[in-house]
Amino acid sequence: MFKNSPKRQPSIDLFSQIGSVQLQNPVMTASGTAGYSSELSSYFNPAQLGAFVTKSLSWFAHLGNQAPRVAPARGAMLNSVGLQGPGLQYWMEKELPKLIKTKSKIVVSIWGFKVQDYLKAAEILADAPKEIVAIEVNVSCPNVEDRRKMFGHSATATAEVVQAVKDCKRPIWVKMSPNVTNLVDIASSAISNGAQALVLVNTLMGMGISTQNASYTLGAGGGGLSGPALNGVALRSVYECYEAFPDIPLVGVGGISRGSHAIEMIMAGASAIQVGTASFVNPRACLVVLDEIRQWCEQNQVKKIKELIGVAHG
Ligand SMILES: Cc1cc2nc3c(=O)[nH]c(=O)nc-3n(C[C@H](O)[C@H](O)[C@H](O)COP(=O)(O)O)c2cc1C
Repeated sequence: MFKNSPKRQPSIDLFSQIGSVQLQNPVMTASGTAGYSSELSSYFNPAQLGAFVTKSLSWFAHLGNQAPRVAPARGAMLNSVGLQGPGLQYWMEKELPKLIKTKSKIVVSIWGFKVQDYLKAAEILADAPKEIVAIEVNVSCPNVEDRRKMFGHSATATAEVVQAVKDCKRPIWVKMSPNVTNLVDIASSAISNGAQALVLVNTLMGMGISTQNASYTLGAGGGGLSGPALNGVALRSVYECYEAFPDIPLVGVGGISRGSHAIEMIMAGASAIQVGTASFVNPRACLVVLDEIRQWCEQNQVKKIKELIGVAHG
């Protein structure tokens, strides 16, 4: 369908529309893999991206899990950071100003242990500066009011969380867990309760075993699996959600490290993509993906990236 051509085109329209949020290009950082503000700023200016997505923040400070927090896995990475963070108020005072200076569009990821925690986070963010263009709701967190079952594994709990954040005065993006057999039902519940976009997907539940220690490789035991091995799962999640909700913007994330991976995700139905684990290999991975998207479009004579959204659906 798309032929390689050596001809160069003068400019390619990379604009990406995620509900009411307009991004200059479809590449974002993935939550938890690029820090809170300036951690990667010696490698690139986040203003070059569509948006910078923060590590998930709660209204309270949280210590996170014991080390080791990351470990290699076959074709993947395992992590169990345990949502360590300084709390939203601290972040807004100390970190947000640095990010605003870069002139990036900012997406704040939030999390909580209870529905009430999400509500408190939304209240704090309601008065935040306009540079925060959207709130990404991380529902891959243990719900302490329901036997630590992840919010994102239940359509009801997901609905409660999305309702709780509705007064944040920002578009709400919900980041879905892939560890479910009823993704479309849970996504439907997020949408009907106010999600403007879906971010697909968070990590898969995984584990590594060290033969030397006869024990698990991560300090917390289990953790989240990310990187290349997650890519097919993310692609399928995007594909299925696009089939079910063709008018809802989708953000694809999982195992993207090259421009061609991003194009595949867009063809499956994503309007934008995020780069996570690849940034641990190359801190400039987001820019590599962005440059290669541009090159791919030039080579294939694609004038607008939007033209590619969902084309794999025929
Ligand atoms: C070290 C690490 C920390 C992460 N922390 C968060 C987080 O705080 N919130 C969140 O929603 N996702 C978090 N994620 C998941 C990523 O945002 C992303 O959904 C996942 O890693 C899949 O993308 P990737 O394969 O490109 O890494 C984390 C991933 C890693 C590797």
